[in-house]
Amino acid sequence: MKNFIPLAKPDIDNREINLVIQTLKSGWLTTGPKVLEFENALSDYLKNDVNIYTVGLNSCTSALFLSLLALGIKEGDEVIVPTWTFAATAQVVDWIGATVVLCDIDKDSLNIDVEKAEKLITKKTKAIIPVHIAGYPCDMERIGNLAKKYTLKVVEDAAHAIGTKYKNKKIGNFSDITCFSFYATKNLAMGEGGAAVSRDKKLIEKIRKLSYFGINKDAFKRYEKNGHWFYDIEEIGYKANLDSMHAALGIIQLKKLDKMNQRRREIASYYRKNLTNKIKFNKDLDEHYHTYHLFPIRLPKGINRNIFIEELKKNNIGASVHFIPLHLHTFYKDRAIYDFEVANRVYENILSIPMYSAMTDEEMKYIVKIVNKIIG
Ligand SMILES: Cc1ncc(COP(=O)(O)O)c(C=O)c1O
Repeated sequence: MKNFIPLAKPDIDNREINLVIQTLKSGWLTTGPKVLEFENALSDYLKNDVNIYTVGLNSCTSALFLSLLALGIKEGDEVIVPTWTFAATAQVVDWIGATVVLCDIDKDSLNIDVEKAEKLITKKTKAIIPVHIAGYPCDMERIGNLAKKYTLKVVEDAAHAIGTKYKNKKIGNFSDITCFSFYATKNLAMGEGGAAVSRDKKLIEKIRKLSYFGINKDAFKRYEKNGHWFYDIEEIGYKANLDSMHAALGIIQLKKLDKMNQRRREIASYYRKNLTNKIKFNKDLDEHYHTYHLFPIRLPKGINRNIFIEELKKNNIGASVHFIPLHLHTFYKDRAIYDFEVANRVYENILSIPMYSAMTDEEMKYIVKIVNKIIG
């Protein structure tokens, strides 16, 4: 293969390009009608039996942070976070001054181990942040029951899971607030961007206010012909609003999302059927709809991961490791007192191979051929 096959690649065509150009020419670049259009489209896309409300934001990290604030999580509270995740899921808890309590994961899905999470609950535990790793849903029924039993707030980190279904319902219909990422590598890519969604309109309006300096609603309308110059800062807020160009990208990406997710599933199915049976895969039960943001593989014993990744690179194939468990990072190493037996074991031989909807059949077949050849 002449060209390098990256780990991820956005699926952008002239439709996105044209709408971004049109938006640039419209004279309105920040939060405005395009953001509203994206928010409404996302609410409609996610809606199952009850209305969903959406606020577009500049990242999933902002969505997670503002969600915790909106739910009243504060200094002294404990929040349970899986150790198998990106920095964002835990750091937002630290930003608030609450305590991150790291939890081990299920060995087959790499999602939070709900049984172990229950053992970590104390009087101070106020929330849990399940992460749908690689686009495979957490056990929302058990998490819902746990939250009910101990009166916990649930904020889902659905950075990997736009379009994912738990049983027949899309992620976004289950807990207090769900946060999505539209970062450059995600299934719906804006470059940078995110959203918080909820069935509770008040929570979303609270997040909207916190995302723009705690200013009362319609702050963005003040420059419009029918807007009014007056605004009121009602509380301390932040600056995390979504702008029109990113929203324009999102509007088109959302229209293409189901097709793009379907293509990821096709590639995953090809990988699962054709990669050597010496490799182990994450769980994918038919009762759910896995959207394959990532495709992690577990190497057989005797294959050195670093050498394997170098071999892939030599053959023009990108790879990475998702994730280095949080408790193995310098900042969180004091939490290594908990039991991370599964995360430690899985971390030894896992890596992610390329997965993106714009992948050609030729690339997909080439990846399988090379991986199988290296493993032998
Ligand atoms: C699990 C998880 N949560 C949160 C984030 C943060 O998303 P964003 O870059 O949109 O802030 C990421 C980003 O890669 C992620 O993988």
